[in-house]
Amino acid sequence: MKKKVAVLPGDGIGPEVMSGALEVLHAVGERFGHDFEVEQGDIGGVAIDLHGEPLPQTTLELCGQSDAILLGAVGGPKWKDVPVHLRPEKGLLDIRKELGLFANLRPVATFDSLLEASPLKRNVIENVDFVIVRELTGGIYFGKPSERRGKNKEIAVDTLTYDRSEIERVVHKAFQLASIRRKKLTSVDKANVLESSRMWHEVVDEVSHNYPEVEVEHLLVDAAAMKLIYQPKHFDVIVTENMFGDILSDEASMLTGSLGMLPSASLREDFLGLYEPVHGSAPDIAGQGKANPLAMILSVAMMLKYSFGLKQEAELIEHAVQEVLKAGYRTRDLGGDTGTNEMSQLVLHYLEEEQVSSAIMSVYL
Ligand code: NAD
Ligand code: IPM
Ligand code: MN
Repeated sequence: MKKKVAVLPGDGIGPEVMSGALEVLHAVGERFGHDFEVEQGDIGGVAIDLHGEPLPQTTLELCGQSDAILLGAVGGPKWKDVPVHLRPEKGLLDIRKELGLFANLRPVATFDSLLEASPLKRNVIENVDFVIVRELTGGIYFGKPSERRGKNKEIAVDTLTYDRSEIERVVHKAFQLASIRRKKLTSVDKANVLESSRMWHEVVDEVSHNYPEVEVEHLLVDAAAMKLIYQPKHFDVIVTENMFGDILSDEASMLTGSLGMLPSASLREDFLGLYEPVHGSAPDIAGQGKANPLAMILSVAMMLKYSFGLKQEAELIEHAVQEVLKAGYRTRDLGGDTGTNEMSQLVLHYLEEEQVSSAIMSVYL
């Protein structure tokens, strides 16, 4: 298989976690005889510095000509005072919107060997396996912000808008995912307060008629935040609006032990997807070789699965990650002292080990 991948490392720990992830991609390509051509582009703060804007046209064109996109992270203190339309984060919001990547899948599955790394009790978190489907191109992130108004610019306004079709398409995606998983969908909203949530609730009930095999429940977002910690095994697929999904997924990451463990896929109706860790640019540890690269590496696995249909290849990466953790290696966020590059090299090593053991297997089969 021949595929072109746009690679946007971005800022902070973005480039650090991306470099190992690309080695993993190439190793998988070599093993299975795929040709993954990668081309780098700029986004976020680095793009502001080099091109004067967070999402240059050349980057968008590169993405348009590619089969999938890998993104590290954007943002950092260096750009905190730039005008809002030039913030690094605006580049991320714009790429999602421009490419129409409306469904953001954030899987949360605990690893047996990491149960002790979570601050939560083992019996609460073992065998947790759910996916948050976050609406990604609407809601309060994309409402027109007002200029500050009033005598002393004392009023600030953000608006939360959804139209029915934006809700319908992401809810369909979530139902489809639930129907190939454990057939349980939890829709999270704030329908006791927000009009947009009341419409969300209504749409979920309407769309549910198309998926009679899926059990549906509605939870208010505050109660959902509690239940994620109290009874995470309750969940299979969670569907929610943009900002609730952002907040709940960082919260849910601690079930796995660290924000550095969660990958994500941003999808639309065709196979183009953008794959990035859930975490940000982590300015507090950037440039120190301390970042956990596993969320980025697992994002590569999601790309292979969702954009290229390469399930076996994706599972090989997931398995290598499991083996590295089983062997006891931990980056600092997980309580160890393995460095970013060392961790990536260990995953590569286990990928190669797998190669040896499956070659041995084929002799005996
Ligand atoms: P963050 O996710 O960057 O970091 C939060 C905490 O988690 C920090 O203590 C950090 O060290 C730790 N952490 C995150 N990823 C880690 C990893 N892979 N390994 C080890 N530790 C890790 O969130 P923040 O500090 O609130 O934001 C920093 C910048 O990143 C901001 O500019 C923000 O807008 C941006 N951001 C970008 C993205 C993205 O590009 N998708 C996501 C979130 C935040
Ligand atoms: C994420 C990030 C972004 C978001 C920010 C950086 C705009 O937190 O990808 O989760 O809120 O979507
Ligand atoms: Mn976030």
